[in-house]
Amino acid sequence: MSTRIGIVTGGGDCPGLNAVIRAVAKAAAKRGWETIGFLGGYEGVLEPQRYVQLKYQELGSLLTRGGTILGTANRGRFSAKVGHGESRRLPQELIDGVKAGLEKLGIHALVSIGGDGSLSIAQQLFEGGVPIVGVPKTIDNDLEGTVMTFGFESAVACATDALDRLHTTAESHNRVMVLEVMGRYAGWIALYAGVAGGADVILIPEIPFSYDRICAKIEEREKADKRFAMIIVAEGAREQGGTFVTAGAQAENREARLGGIAAVVAQQMEARTGKEARACVLGHLQRGGSPTHFDRALCSMFGTEAVELIAEGRFGQMAAFLGSHVDAVPITQAVGRLKTVRTDGSLIRTARALGICLGD
Ligand code: F6P
Repeated sequence: MSTRIGIVTGGGDCPGLNAVIRAVAKAAAKRGWETIGFLGGYEGVLEPQRYVQLKYQELGSLLTRGGTILGTANRGRFSAKVGHGESRRLPQELIDGVKAGLEKLGIHALVSIGGDGSLSIAQQLFEGGVPIVGVPKTIDNDLEGTVMTFGFESAVACATDALDRLHTTAESHNRVMVLEVMGRYAGWIALYAGVAGGADVILIPEIPFSYDRICAKIEEREKADKRFAMIIVAEGAREQGGTFVTAGAQAENREARLGGIAAVVAQQMEARTGKEARACVLGHLQRGGSPTHFDRALCSMFGTEAVELIAEGRFGQMAAFLGSHVDAVPITQAVGRLKTVRTDGSLIRTARALGICLGD
């Protein structure tokens, strides 16, 4: 019987998932291995098992296709994240269930594609005896151990395009435009898109902001005869001494759903500056669609690295982008703490040098 490997995708979807699935299945096929894709995340491994065979001939068009053909879940029995920075231990019967499910199908090893939550689960499964390797996924880019996760670049491209579009309408109406982007408790998307899209103000969770500082920036622009302003705000940004703005009540055993800060900032801008302000929430647009060319290449490197790790029997490792190349790091290096923006990092220093207001 030939070697069989499995793939699971967990957590929120993001551009590039299918590109990783394709790279894993192609690299595996080159070695004469079979690849099984489990449907609906780790749940698909348990009884009643749900999976598809990823045949080499059927991988066409996956490189560019958004979402995941395997489906994914960021809730349910395998969701590790239950609150801000807290994660849950998997009950032993779920670990045993996954082991039995893999054994039943003769699966030699599992590739887990996910963010902090799914990779925490992967680590627990590894500790429980499951041969598993990880691939770092999330638009938020908040995973340690890798300079970049896949999906992040595509989300930044979408947010930058949104800023470009809002720029022309803000300028035409002399308005303050506030664009809210995702990123959870990290400001990577807002910071990169803000610099790339020429924002005047960038608000991120790592730097609690003051409305006075934002108003001072808008006044400075007025004096220079620039009568509009572009603000990009991360969903996890908050006022100094304030709390996160959330969308609705927090469901039991789930992370808070962040959202709504753009409307609050826009309303404060109108009240404080007398200028018309509008809020725009980019939402799930930044998670959908085709991955950028950089993400396609990164996903291809991550997928092939995962297969190589399996071939070498290096389980408990994750493919990681180390700035110039892809290599492996232990999954433990990536999970359990968030990689947030360093407030003395080079893009922050660049933003300040350009006169961009960071709200402090
Ligand atoms: O982690 C990815 C992410 O898109 C976050 O940026 C955002 O806070 C969250 O997921 C949204 O989750 P959902 O798709 O459940 O609304």
